[in-house]
Amino acid sequence: MKKSILKKQLEDLNKINHFRFHMPGHKGRGNDFDLFAYDMTEIPGADNLHDPQGVIEEVQEKCAKAYGSEEAALLVNGTTTGIHSAILGACSPGEKLLVPTNCHRSVFGALALGRIEGVFITPEFNTRMGFAKEVSLDSVKEALIKYPQSRGMVLTNPTYYGTTSDVQAIGDYLHSQGKFLIVDEAHGAHLHFNQELPLDAIAAGADVSIQSTHKILGSLTQSSLIHFQGSRINRQRVKQFLSLLQSSSPSYPLMISVEEAVDTAFEHGEDIFKKIIEAHETFFKNQPVTAPITLYNGDDSGTGYDQSKWLFHTRGIAGSQVEEILSKSYGIRCELSGKNHVLAMTGIGTTQEALKALTKAIKDLNEKIIHGELQGETLRPGSDLPQEFLFAGAVKTEVPLWQGLYRHKEKCPLAEANERLAGDFIIPYPPGIPVLLPGSRIDQEMIAGLNHLMDHGISIVGINQKRELLLFKEKGDLHEA
Ligand SMILES: Cc1ncc(COP(=O)(O)O)c(C=O)c1O
Repeated sequence: MKKSILKKQLEDLNKINHFRFHMPGHKGRGNDFDLFAYDMTEIPGADNLHDPQGVIEEVQEKCAKAYGSEEAALLVNGTTTGIHSAILGACSPGEKLLVPTNCHRSVFGALALGRIEGVFITPEFNTRMGFAKEVSLDSVKEALIKYPQSRGMVLTNPTYYGTTSDVQAIGDYLHSQGKFLIVDEAHGAHLHFNQELPLDAIAAGADVSIQSTHKILGSLTQSSLIHFQGSRINRQRVKQFLSLLQSSSPSYPLMISVEEAVDTAFEHGEDIFKKIIEAHETFFKNQPVTAPITLYNGDDSGTGYDQSKWLFHTRGIAGSQVEEILSKSYGIRCELSGKNHVLAMTGIGTTQEALKALTKAIKDLNEKIIHGELQGETLRPGSDLPQEFLFAGAVKTEVPLWQGLYRHKEKCPLAEANERLAGDFIIPYPPGIPVLLPGSRIDQEMIAGLNHLMDHGISIVGINQKRELLLFKEKGDLHEA
């Protein structure tokens, strides 16, 4: 049989990248099992994810117990569908939901699908590196005082960058006002299993949390968990949407991988993450503050930093250049990079050998930069552009979000988009947070910002390589084909 082109490509990538510091968390070192032997349909005895009453129910109960939640459900379409279902189940069309602007695209997708109105909250920023951090309790209070009819809030915790908000204080406040809290814990499925890590959402009192067990724990990509607690959110409604939106042929290998990932984390998580945290602390404590590449350890805000994330601040050298050198010269593939940062994500599959290789490589690069053996890229004009603009409420729309999906669109060059309304979700990847929604007004600052990101190698979903994007037709009617 001819070799799959895709398989070959991934094998080639594996040959170059010895040390994976990107998702998924198993780092290619999961439990070996013959996928085809376990790839089945809902024959008698195999239960049914859409109405679990047998072995799947048992697994779900075990997962809930491991996390201390009241109920858990396996997800086979990622946290994305868990978020869609949680929001659609918790809010009816026309209702309002508090949404920090740094939420993942799935949250905005849920608003559009459910015809729900987002009340946008601006998070705090790390201005040095240009990313959104925690959401303050004050900003939540302010939004709720202004829009008291909001049904509740969705909060991303921890963020892609490992920063946290005070979930407990935000949850307590929302609950005292009769509101719910849904936590997008896509990056936090490991938190529950190590005492040094920030508090997980269920322990902090969230009503629902959704976790990508594939990102830092060891399950297969696309598998996730949703947890329920209390009665503020109607579980039956959430489950109804899960059943509507997830595949009617749920993958058993994905479900098995979640169960095994949770078992492993339950048994060994404390120890595995202890080693990762200790290595992080040692690196952080011993680094010269003046080094060109330094490890970030949070900003004394929020409720602690998730030290499974190794986020480096770069000076005199672009983060994207460091990412490239790590891959080409040291066989280390990171998760993401930006103008002045590069993120190495550890996970349950990260070995001591990999941590040593990363530590050594960064020290080596620092030496080379200090001794002039490695020249940082000359930053292009405009590269000092503040990145906060990306998160600062650019997601306002001039028509309800759901209507934006039905408008008549046309493709136009980005350069000609000034003052026009975006026709699509425009999402820099990473971190997958939309900067424009269908119906957002585009201005010159946004155009410059998007060009800047693309000049620095960041790909943007919604803008093609020719730098064209969809805009509303200026005289397009709703529902026009
Ligand atoms: C913050 C956040 N939420 C949700 C998701 C969606 O998770 P999944 O890939 O499991 O669908 C992601 C994915 O990158 C994410 O970063």
